Amino acid sequence: MFDVEKIRKDFPMIVNNPDLIYFDSAATSFKPKCVIDEIVNYYEHENTNIHRGDYDISFRVSKAYDDTRKTVASFINAKDPKSIVFTYGSSSSLNTVAINYGRKFLKKGDVVLTSQVEHASDILPWFKACENSGAKISYVPFHKDGSFDLEEYKKCFEKEKVKIVALPHVSNVLGYIYPIKEICAIAHENGAVVSVDGAQSVPHIKIDVQDLDVDFLSFSSHKMLGPAGVGVLYGKFDLLDQLDPIFYGGGANARFYEDGSIILQETPEKFEAGTPDIEGVLGLKKAIEYLQSIGMEEIEKYGEELSDHFISKLEKLDNVEIYNKDARTGIVTFNVKGIFAQDAASYFNSLGIAVRTGNHCAKLLHNIIDVNETIRASMYLYNTKEEIDRFIDVIKDTTIEKCVDSIL
Ligand code: ALA
Repeated sequence: MFDVEKIRKDFPMIVNNPDLIYFDSAATSFKPKCVIDEIVNYYEHENTNIHRGDYDISFRVSKAYDDTRKTVASFINAKDPKSIVFTYGSSSSLNTVAINYGRKFLKKGDVVLTSQVEHASDILPWFKACENSGAKISYVPFHKDGSFDLEEYKKCFEKEKVKIVALPHVSNVLGYIYPIKEICAIAHENGAVVSVDGAQSVPHIKIDVQDLDVDFLSFSSHKMLGPAGVGVLYGKFDLLDQLDPIFYGGGANARFYEDGSIILQETPEKFEAGTPDIEGVLGLKKAIEYLQSIGMEEIEKYGEELSDHFISKLEKLDNVEIYNKDARTGIVTFNVKGIFAQDAASYFNSLGIAVRTGNHCAKLLHNIIDVNETIRASMYLYNTKEEIDRFIDVIKDTTIEKCVDSIL
């Protein structure tokens, strides 16, 4: 049974900040004690490099690092642990695909099909890949509420020579789950590959990369209870294997010669030059084990419950505008009518409530939802309905005067 009070005790940030209501987990999640302990244990007992030391502790840590590929593969149901590359976060994973796949396979006249809901990290690398190759960026038209329009998406392939589709699984602003399985099927029928930004989906919903048939999936550890500075790039092995690394260096090469030739390690090691974020990868393993001990289906269901509770209460207030009434992944995006989002956030902050405001790095989204600045409350498995109720009481009574007072 999902027991949120028990879960809350596992998080030192919650125990140590009893007055804080944290609604910014889409920016970064709290870490359970077992993840923190794993990192501390590494530094206190096993602080060695991997794949380089000829001694027991280094062998042990190397094995734990390598075994994490199996943990990640089973978490997202990847066929082969060799399909798992450790990166520095979603942004570095997405850049690896765009810069490499783009550099190698895009040419003048090709189209990268993306959207205007995109987070900067999933679109700027493609801008650069297009600039370098002469390919063109094109945007799938979305419904006005930010939900996905499969019919419009299909039409994009009739009009243009789409080579690559780059879309998020869940919008970081609106929290909608986009139909990635259908998106991939249509792209594949038309000979395109699909790179998915999974930063906001992998922490919240059960992922099966084989069922989705996704070609590349990028995500970050720090949004799924793990440490910052480590991320994952999943790729179908044959596709991943065709990519060149962005970084070259120690650990990623087998030999190199005076004439400048390099023999790289095999995939995935060829992508991991230099000393990796060892403690980050070990912490990610613990985070996944923690999530699995609760169950991703349970976590997803609880996220839906929190979203439903929040939205149903918010809908009853006449001083708010909600932008994603149908989203159920723990993200609620709204404004208090007549109040600048950041001013409202200052007032919430003065009462111990943490939210993010602004455009949330999705700087083209205003073209779809017609608003530039929003308040985003993002929840995770440790948030409660009581916290939502307390926040609703605050939102209900939010006035310009109170916001100004909280800033002065
Ligand atoms: N990408 C993170 C967010 O949406 C930082 O807040």
